[in-house]
Amino acid sequence: MAFLVLLTLAMQGVSRAEMGTADPGPSSVPIPTNVTIESYNMKPIVYWEYQIMPQVPVFTVEVKTYGYGDWIVACTNISHRYCNISDHVNDPLNSLWVRVKARVGQKESAYAKSEEFTVCQHGKIEPPKLGIRKEEKQITIDIFHPSVFVNGEGQEVDYYDEITCYIIVYNVYVRVNKSEILYKVSTKMEDDCNEIQCQLTVPVPSLNSQYCVSAEGVLNVWGVTTEKSEEICVTISNSSIKDLCGKKCHYRDKT
Ligand SMILES: *[C@@H]1O[C@H](CO)[C@@H](O)[C@H](O)[C@H]1NC(C)=O
Ligand SMILES: *[C@@H]1O[C@H](CO)[C@@H](O)[C@H](O)[C@H]1NC(C)=O
Ligand SMILES: *[C@@H]1O[C@H](CO)[C@@H](O)[C@H](O)[C@H]1NC(C)=O
Ligand SMILES: *[C@@H]1O[C@H](CO)[C@@H](O)[C@H](O)[C@H]1NC(C)=O
Ligand SMILES: *[C@@H]1O[C@H](CO)[C@@H](O)[C@H](O)[C@H]1NC(C)=O
Repeated sequence: MAFLVLLTLAMQGVSRAEMGTADPGPSSVPIPTNVTIESYNMKPIVYWEYQIMPQVPVFTVEVKTYGYGDWIVACTNISHRYCNISDHVNDPLNSLWVRVKARVGQKESAYAKSEEFTVCQHGKIEPPKLGIRKEEKQITIDIFHPSVFVNGEGQEVDYYDEITCYIIVYNVYVRVNKSEILYKVSTKMEDDCNEIQCQLTVPVPSLNSQYCVSAEGVLNVWGVTTEKSEEICVTISNSSIKDLCGKKCHYRDKT
């Protein structure tokens, strides 16, 4: 019995000591503000703001992902105001949260928490790259998948067979003489698409027309689209083909 009392007292002592370090009372260190997450090509980076202090503050950033209850430290004692949390994204369909605290000397601020962020829903993805080839009575448009969906070996990115986000269809905008036609290319059509690209063939019924093409990918979730590519143009005439390619044109003339 005496032993039990002693043990209880000892445990109380421990928990008081823990509380003493974890909760130093009202903190004089201001809390970071505007914790925001931006993601490009599924690589999220956290940004925050902080007031000017006489002493240099350092920051600690923690990430929590849906399904994994714990806060995981992503950056510790950094003096810049961003933290790359790319390595903490296990599935870009999962929600994640971020919290940031400041330290000045030995004192810490409370945590500033971000809004919920889902990489596939709130992040940006680069546009597909385009190429146009002129063939007899038709043009063939090559739509190269954004690099984030293609790995080094030219295979589709495989998130360990988890259901994740991918491009389900490309919207391809073909503008002829100021009128625009929308084509939809499903990435599931094996005749048109492979791991690297999709192809669309458009008939060219009349000569002396300028065809301008741009495209965007539509993800399988939330109707999210990639950025739209720059427009590239090709002029079809009966004698010569004059192409007015955009910056990233993969033009290959078959004639
Ligand atoms: C925080 O963000 C809001 C909205 O984006 C902006 O109005 C405000 O000025 C920002 N705060 C600071 C301290 O910059
Ligand atoms: C961060 O800095 C504090 C204060 O200098 C120190 O106590 C702590 O161990 C540091 N954390 C890491 C992970 O280096
Ligand atoms: C963030 O980290 C990822 C993975 O480590 C890296 O590929 C990416 O280039 C980094 N982004 C920046 C802006 O440093
Ligand atoms: C586009 O305009 C040119 C010149 O006005 C014309 O020759 C051509 O047939 C037009 N093309 C289409 C597809 O309407
Ligand atoms: C087609 O080309 C020929 C010779 O290059 C030229 O004489 C003719 O006028 C052209 N026709 C049209 C519709 O441009």
